[in-house]
Amino acid sequence: MTQVDKAVHGMWSGRMAFVLAATGSAVGLGNIWKFPYMAGENGGGAFVLVYLLCILLIGLPIMIAEIMLGRRGGLSPVNTMRKLAKASGQHASWQVIGWFGLLAAFLILSFYSVIAGWVVSYSLRSAVGIFEGVTAEGASAIFGELAGDAEKQLAWHTIFMVMTAAVVARGVERGLEQAARWLMPVLFVLLVVMVGYAMTSGGFAEGANFLLVPDFSKITGAGIVAAMGHAFFSLSLGLGAIMMYGAYVPNDMRIIGAGISIAMADTVVALLAGLAIFPVVFANGLDPETGPTLIFQTLPLAFGQMGGGVFFSTLFFVLLTLAAWSSAISLIEPCVAWLVENRRMSRAAAAVLVAMAAWFLGIGTILSFNHWQELTLYGKTFFEVADFLTTNLLLPLGGTLIAVFSAWFLSREVVCEELGLKSDRAFLMWKIAVGVIAPLGVLVVFVSRLGDLG
Ligand code: TRP
Repeated sequence: MTQVDKAVHGMWSGRMAFVLAATGSAVGLGNIWKFPYMAGENGGGAFVLVYLLCILLIGLPIMIAEIMLGRRGGLSPVNTMRKLAKASGQHASWQVIGWFGLLAAFLILSFYSVIAGWVVSYSLRSAVGIFEGVTAEGASAIFGELAGDAEKQLAWHTIFMVMTAAVVARGVERGLEQAARWLMPVLFVLLVVMVGYAMTSGGFAEGANFLLVPDFSKITGAGIVAAMGHAFFSLSLGLGAIMMYGAYVPNDMRIIGAGISIAMADTVVALLAGLAIFPVVFANGLDPETGPTLIFQTLPLAFGQMGGGVFFSTLFFVLLTLAAWSSAISLIEPCVAWLVENRRMSRAAAAVLVAMAAWFLGIGTILSFNHWQELTLYGKTFFEVADFLTTNLLLPLGGTLIAVFSAWFLSREVVCEELGLKSDRAFLMWKIAVGVIAPLGVLVVFVSRLGDLG
């Protein structure tokens, strides 16, 4: 790895900047929008337990592997994989990891921006006091009006995509670091405030119970696959986003420690979001299986009844917009970096091109909530297909290939040097965690799905 490669895209100013930016990538709609509704749909506690196990046994090792490959390669995922495969005397076809990654990033970005658009819209709606004293029916009606209006959603989706392209066009250090520095702490404090409110809502015991006490009769093989897929989604793993950020990491950073910090922050935020939302669900007799619209129906209700609700809800949705923004940036970055490296495009031109293409595809997701609601493939809408294909298939597949490559095909010297492993024992532990447990975990999860079918 040479400093020249790094000079192509820029570099983080230090360890903290990387941890913040990677946390900015990890913490987003996945934690606050997706995790609660998936836990709700899949029976609560058992889903959460499987999710936590997947974070620890599969996600964390792969996170460490991704950062390591990224720093070693110093380029976008396709080129990093090609370069590292060559350097270790392996076949160049390992770069397929990078190609899957670009595809997955692009697909996720397309629907991510639509949901982020809902959040932007909710920031403004909160600010004008629409949710003051709102009832459960009122909150559903307000959401229903947005979901039914494709044109309005398109406007918000467009705004969000432009925001994303704008930051990426400016480049990594200036664009990304600033955003991440203060956002995470403030978001964290606000979530704690909301959990505090949830404790007074009358549904806390039931909500906490639902989320934290596993009832294995409620989880299916499909639920287990979903929990694992979501571990990848939430940690931003499997498509090379973290590999991409790893490319901008200075050589003296301790990768393992950084990986642990990022995974912990991400997990805490998801659990807090669950603890803020489910008490409100139960206190108001809502259905935990509501699906992707869950937070848009429950949070306004909580804010509507809370003292200072207008202030808190506006702040919350603005922060969630920013969290989604810092995640979307990491989705577009691998595609942009690839275009810059291989097509000699300027960052700005590449960002605009990728954003426009993903914007266009996002229209399919918008229509899934209104005009195309009935248009399904195997019972899934356009949005659900895009989500399933990426979260449940491409990310676990990409992540497994990353783990297998790092553990079995990368040379021992490279691993030990990058991770600072000094003993045979440390190296063996790395090999077991990344080369055996993580891939085997993914396999076991997929096999559990077969039980469902048979
Ligand atoms: N992790 C982000 C979230 O939870 C979404 C995300 C950003 C992502 N970059 C990614 C998911 C890369 C998978 C891969 O909202």
